[in-house]
Amino acid sequence: MIKPDAVANGHIGSILNDIIAGGFKIVALKYIKLTPESAGNFYAVHKERPFYADLVKFMTSGPIVAAILEKENAVEDFRKLIGATDPKKADEGTIRNKYAESIEANAVHGSDSDENAEIEGNFYFSQFERF
Ligand code: CMP
Repeated sequence: MIKPDAVANGHIGSILNDIIAGGFKIVALKYIKLTPESAGNFYAVHKERPFYADLVKFMTSGPIVAAILEKENAVEDFRKLIGATDPKKADEGTIRNKYAESIEANAVHGSDSDENAEIEGNFYFSQFERF
């Protein structure tokens, strides 16, 4: 996902460019606004965390871009491309280093395992929306 901060700050094009330049194929893509219920479901694993309510509020504050990306070793390589969750700790040149504002408004989300990539891809896209 490209999160509401990066969308509002005009970074959709630059982030998609970095993703494509990083060797990822875009399999599915959409521009949508989450509802509190859908954002809550997406981040349900974080339900007990102190930042959960604020995260749901932030993720519904504006439109986002959702995508399914394909590449050999995609999960690990995408996490390298985006950098650490906290942009202050993200390596120079990573997407979060370049475009994120804070640990919450951190520009992008990437799945943390192949299993979660499957679940999160299914959350946004039907079989007719993948190419
Ligand atoms: P993301 O990769 O989307 O997965 C969960 C999100 O929770 C994470 O990026 C951050 O935006 C957010 N997050 C994680 N830790 C914190 C924290 N300590 N404070 C606020 N938000 C956090």
